[in-house]
Amino acid sequence: MAKPAIYVARLLVAPVMAAIHERFELTLEPNASPPARDTLAQGLRRAEAIIPTLTERIDATLLQEAPRLKVIANHAVGYNNIDLPAATARGIVVTNTPDVLTDATADLTWALLLAVARRITEGYRLVQTGAWTGWEPTQLLGADVSGQTLGIVGMGRIGQAVARRAMGFGMTVLYASRTSVPSPDSMAPWRQVTLETLLRQSDFISLHVPLTPDTHHLIGGKAFSLMRPAAILLNTSRGPVVDEAALAAALNDGRLAGAGLDVYEEEPKIHPGLLALPQVVTLPHLGSATLNTRVRMGVLCVENVLAVLEGRPAPNRVV
Ligand code: GLV
Repeated sequence: MAKPAIYVARLLVAPVMAAIHERFELTLEPNASPPARDTLAQGLRRAEAIIPTLTERIDATLLQEAPRLKVIANHAVGYNNIDLPAATARGIVVTNTPDVLTDATADLTWALLLAVARRITEGYRLVQTGAWTGWEPTQLLGADVSGQTLGIVGMGRIGQAVARRAMGFGMTVLYASRTSVPSPDSMAPWRQVTLETLLRQSDFISLHVPLTPDTHHLIGGKAFSLMRPAAILLNTSRGPVVDEAALAAALNDGRLAGAGLDVYEEEPKIHPGLLALPQVVTLPHLGSATLNTRVRMGVLCVENVLAVLEGRPAPNRVV
């Protein structure tokens, strides 16, 4: 029997590519870099399924050129890169990869939090450049983490995983979310507050909302005016949730102490005002970047595609 035709937009990790080659016929061999729009359209023309990543914008025009497409298995938990109404109008199922990347993304959020608070990248540079002349009582003094207040904006799976890790640091957890989420019995209660209260009272503010029209620039000039000057902002969600120009201005004016960023408004571009600041730690969108996580994400995409093509309910259907 002929294998179903699939378009995989980017080269995924080897075990996932092997599983895809075994079960599907690829309409085009993927590259490591993002495909040009023409290539994307060409890959989609014969495909019954596509596995895009967060760098591919799957819009209505592109879907018109995909007459056989039945399923879009997005290789990400966020799906703001896909025009959901256009997919639904064409009867195309859209799926994502929740759960499997929760721990990896929460771990990375903590790596950023600690890096900014304790000035890890500044210290690293000092040593690496040979500029370190020895221990000094006033050198690179950072911010306390233990016992401080962590504010989590968006208390979904990843927000909760970040909050659970705060227990080891004896932190108070505030959160702003549409739904209320009880803390595990073993932990000090997480307190649900308004976004305004969270911004006013938190020492660390970590963003975990999906990107939607409602959350676009959720953290902008007004939010920065409410934050404590000693506060540190962390973003491992989606870049456009933060107004980068306003963030650069707030950091420059001393209205905010630092930022740890994994995502940007127009990746891979980064606002130049952020690159110049020592108190900003910038990572290249590494939230889910562990081999184990990427294997599990790819496997989930394959399972979702097979379910749809075999007429079964997709385990991670978005629409
Ligand atoms: C990564 O950013 C994802 O949404 O999976």
